[in-house]
Amino acid sequence: PLKLGVLASGSGSNFEAIAQAIENKELNAVIQVLIYNIPDAKVKERADRWNIPTVFLNHRDYKKREDLDTAIVDILKEYQVEWVIMAGWMRIVTEVLVNAFPNHVINIHPSILPSFKGIHAIEQALQAKVKVTGCTVHLVSVEVDSGLILMQAVVPILSDDTPETLHARIQVQEHRIFPQAIVLAAKLII
Ligand code: GAR
Repeated sequence: PLKLGVLASGSGSNFEAIAQAIENKELNAVIQVLIYNIPDAKVKERADRWNIPTVFLNHRDYKKREDLDTAIVDILKEYQVEWVIMAGWMRIVTEVLVNAFPNHVINIHPSILPSFKGIHAIEQALQAKVKVTGCTVHLVSVEVDSGLILMQAVVPILSDDTPETLHARIQVQEHRIFPQAIVLAAKLII
């Protein structure tokens, strides 16, 4: 089984989808540890329910992004993680993390990259008045929201969409493609 370490900051619905895909034997993997950085993030409760070990790291305790990433790498190595899964990790990562796990860091982003990079991807898509957006699972490189694209899904934008309604429909697709993209990554990259 692939040894996964998940980084998450929020509700953890993607974490849940990955845990469920493992349970369903659609993904041959084990989540070794969840690292989260927001004290009351719902993802923590989800991990507890799945009996998955969790570690809280407060990014405010670290002066530089590199220092936070060094702490993350130490924990991931301690838990013998091979694949780093960024499932709603709302921090910019540095070469410290990327170089510790070359070609083994995977991110999900709520747009069809390379369109709408950054933390306001859904609002940007609405403002641009495009007819479709979606989500992307990609390998992480040091440049933000770049790196080899593993899988994408398209979601239509409806005339009455708000950021919330659109995000909800994007998430349905995220939960479907994220586990599949991890399977694909492991086939592509040894
Ligand atoms: C997901 O929609 C993911 O695409 C997005 O955060 C959400 C996390 O949801 N990621 C980013 O915006 C990365 N910049 P979740 O906590 O329910 O999995």
